[in-house]
Amino acid sequence: MRGERAELPGVCHLRGHRAMSDGRLRTTSKPNKIKAGNTFFVPTPSSAHRLLWPILSIPFLALADRGVAVGHVVPGMVYLVGAGPGSADLITVRGLRVLQSADVVLTDALIAPELLAEARPDAEQLHVGKRGYCVGSTKQESINDAFVRLARQGKSVCRLKCGDPCVFGRGGEEAEVLAAAGIPFEIVPGVTAAVGALAAAKIPLTHRSVGPAVVLATGHHDPDSDDCTHDWEALARLPVVVFYMAVRHLAAIARRLESAGLPPGTPAAVIQSGSLPEQVVVTAELAAIADVAAGVVGPAVVVIGEVVRYRERLLGLVAAQTGVSA
Ligand SMILES: C[S@@+](CC[C@H](N)C(=O)[O-])C[C@H]1O[C@@H](n2cnc3c(N)ncnc32)[C@H](O)[C@@H]1O
Repeated sequence: MRGERAELPGVCHLRGHRAMSDGRLRTTSKPNKIKAGNTFFVPTPSSAHRLLWPILSIPFLALADRGVAVGHVVPGMVYLVGAGPGSADLITVRGLRVLQSADVVLTDALIAPELLAEARPDAEQLHVGKRGYCVGSTKQESINDAFVRLARQGKSVCRLKCGDPCVFGRGGEEAEVLAAAGIPFEIVPGVTAAVGALAAAKIPLTHRSVGPAVVLATGHHDPDSDDCTHDWEALARLPVVVFYMAVRHLAAIARRLESAGLPPGTPAAVIQSGSLPEQVVVTAELAAIADVAAGVVGPAVVVIGEVVRYRERLLGLVAAQTGVSA
């Protein structure tokens, strides 16, 4: 049996659960009939090993028959899961299933508590968040050591990260560590903040009448320092730029873009806590955005480009239809 859907080479699936009406999963009493599903992963043979496969697969199938497969995860495997940008229900169905099944959950900062409540009651939860400029944060090496150690103990590990794990989330680095250590892993994508926060603010990330490209950029480094390697002229030519982690350096970012040729009247918005009840959206022209958004604290994304105008347009149309202004 071949696992067609898996990114890992040679993987097949057994089903040992059923979905409940509330979306949670329950392990079935007669699990593990082998059929295409997505619960328990078993290495499958390459053509070279096909003859040996009936023998090699016995331990895995025996485990599955004893009900060892729990929900949608495999013992000894690490899942780099995107939790989405804020609101707990913006996680993907796949991400939620992994979270609900894993033995251990390693969580970042910015994960909604309601989402963490979805973990198995007996799952170990380790909070390894990093915030802002890493003051009081868990060192990346300790996080790497933790998930490698836990996976080697045979645990299924859900590494839950805000937004998408591989968009300014070190998911790529963590995947490298896992691959180098020989630990099987899966990357479960998430809704990144540029997508989630802009949607929540009613700003379309792209619009056909505005331009054909968008760039996601970090605003973490001081634009006037050597750590910042942005090509400001290139950024200024693009129709839409979304900056992550840019609140601290917003004034300098706006100044650099203007110096690089972006008109000072270009619309800009700062979206704080996008998709959460406490969401704040501030809009202004590029030249004024840093002053107007002076009270904003992270987490926030900054979007610069003509797409920002569609927020007012959409809100105006909604108000015209409903008589209610946002
Ligand atoms: C370390 S980066 C992680 C990005 C994340 N991996 C993603 O894909 O969204 C943290 C930054 O994401 C952005 N961010 C995360 N959640 C957000 C939210 N709910 N609203 C606005 N920005 C958010 C902010 O720029 C924050 O400083």
